[in-house]
Amino acid sequence: MKRFYITTAIDYVNGSPHLGHAYEKVLTDVIARFRRQMGDQVHYLTGTDEHGQKVQASARKLGIEPQQFADQVSAEFRKLITRLEISNDDFIRTTEERHKTVVRQVLQQLFDKGEIYKAEYKGFYSTRQEQFLQEKDRLPGGAWPEIYGEVTEITESNYFFKLRNYQEWLVEFLTKNENFVFPRYRQKQVLEFLKEPLNDLCISRPRERLEWGIPLPFDEGYVTYVWFDALLNYYSAVADKPGVWPATYHVIGKDILVPPHAVYWPIMLHAAGIPLPEGIIAHGWWLQSGAKMSKSTGNALNPLDLVDEFGADAFRYFLIREMNVGQDSEFTREQFLVRYNSELANNLGNLVNRTLNMTTRFAGGVLPAAEITEDLERSLQELWAKTREEVITLCEGFQFHTALERTMAFLTETNAYVEKRAPWKLGKSAEAKDQALLRTSLATMAEALRLAVAVMQHVTPTATQKINAVLGYTPGARWQDELVWGAKLNGAKVEAALVLFPRPTPPATPAPAAGAKPAAPKAKAPKPPKPGKPDTGAAPTAGR
Ligand code: ME8
Ligand code: MG
Repeated sequence: MKRFYITTAIDYVNGSPHLGHAYEKVLTDVIARFRRQMGDQVHYLTGTDEHGQKVQASARKLGIEPQQFADQVSAEFRKLITRLEISNDDFIRTTEERHKTVVRQVLQQLFDKGEIYKAEYKGFYSTRQEQFLQEKDRLPGGAWPEIYGEVTEITESNYFFKLRNYQEWLVEFLTKNENFVFPRYRQKQVLEFLKEPLNDLCISRPRERLEWGIPLPFDEGYVTYVWFDALLNYYSAVADKPGVWPATYHVIGKDILVPPHAVYWPIMLHAAGIPLPEGIIAHGWWLQSGAKMSKSTGNALNPLDLVDEFGADAFRYFLIREMNVGQDSEFTREQFLVRYNSELANNLGNLVNRTLNMTTRFAGGVLPAAEITEDLERSLQELWAKTREEVITLCEGFQFHTALERTMAFLTETNAYVEKRAPWKLGKSAEAKDQALLRTSLATMAEALRLAVAVMQHVTPTATQKINAVLGYTPGARWQDELVWGAKLNGAKVEAALVLFPRPTPPATPAPAAGAKPAAPKAKAPKPPKPGKPDTGAAPTAGR
């Protein structure tokens, strides 16, 4: 079994989770589930980043201890991942003893090796970014960019990590390992950054300025710089789990690629004699009206609201379907509803309804065997074989959005097949050939549905499970064996109906006229297509 260790960034607990955080967990979960399905031995880590100035400041504002504040916000992140059906194997908090112990060990080791030295530093400091600034960081007019917040000039003694010594090594490493950063164009940005000489990294903050951190093992008057502490979570979380390290992928947002993940992290590991991860996946940003959704700008969407309204599967589906990993995407509710309605409620939902309804109506709820293979069946099976191969390759290359697009195209073709076979007409005919075709069409649509949801399983785990259940089907142990067109559903007893993606309730309307009937409940079963009437494949409309 191939070992596959994947991590997300650990989220700052200085504010509540938003859509960007949710996306990262979901993307990593989709990769983790996909690799498990492919047979890898997966370890999935996520967690919270709890030290530093911002957390200390947020806690002070509320008049509580940083630990208490971190406990509260970390719990919110845990709640989010539960609601999103994230399949993580571990959750690390940087305030845990297991983490602090490893951070201190690594610091001591680097100190003993002479990789860390003490020096006096005079310069400008941004509290908001928790970093020292240089002259080159100024705007042309001499002012400091907005992102740095208040900038103050300070003189203090601090500990520095000899980053500069490893610049050449890192350039060589990245040149040899062209695929270290995904997407590849981001690796070029790292090399671009490395064209300028690196400064040694200040890894301490005097305690009188910042209390809330891990004390340096060799000087208790200082705490560890939050990034040096945070990056080590990937390693500290598995320090007691032999055979897990090195990480296969760190999944992070593009804002924390250069310099923390692509420069500091590989150098820290290399200097400490720890093996490097295989790669970094840097995703893009969710935007609202063109601006990055973020805690500090207050345009952040609470992902739990959408999960409450549409369910975890629909939410996961949208995020993965909409975003090309690496690029930015604009989030709008309108676009969410377009995909929800056309792809989930109509395309997938329609096939589920038709399969269950026709099988119940014309076959006593028991799926028959396919008896006839004509061009219509043959071309659908061929399309499946092609779709399956493409989807696996696309998922291996993190092109999940295209994989879903192909799956939707296959569902569209399946619905078109049903239109052409028109089982609702065949069911009215007493001809033996029509009856054989009816059975064939029922078996074919059910099999196509089974396959489509099998290949979406890592994105929509619950929907896949529910559809398998109403098809009377229990999947086998090897996922790839599940993807072969066959006769696995022969004789399966199906349920009469399933509403997975109900039409959203329209916005509140004025009070109904006297005598009007109360609105139908939201999750009532949609009407199945009427037999005898050509089914247009139009949306099943819940509650009508
Ligand atoms: O950076 N769209 O934490 P964080 C997509 N603690 N992703 C977004 C996003 C958006 N609008 N906003 C944030 C930190 N993210 C550090 C990480 S790792 C050792 C320490 C992503 O809470 C962001 O890119 O600010 C990052 O990967 C993650 O959410 C956590 O961001
Ligand atoms: Mg951030």
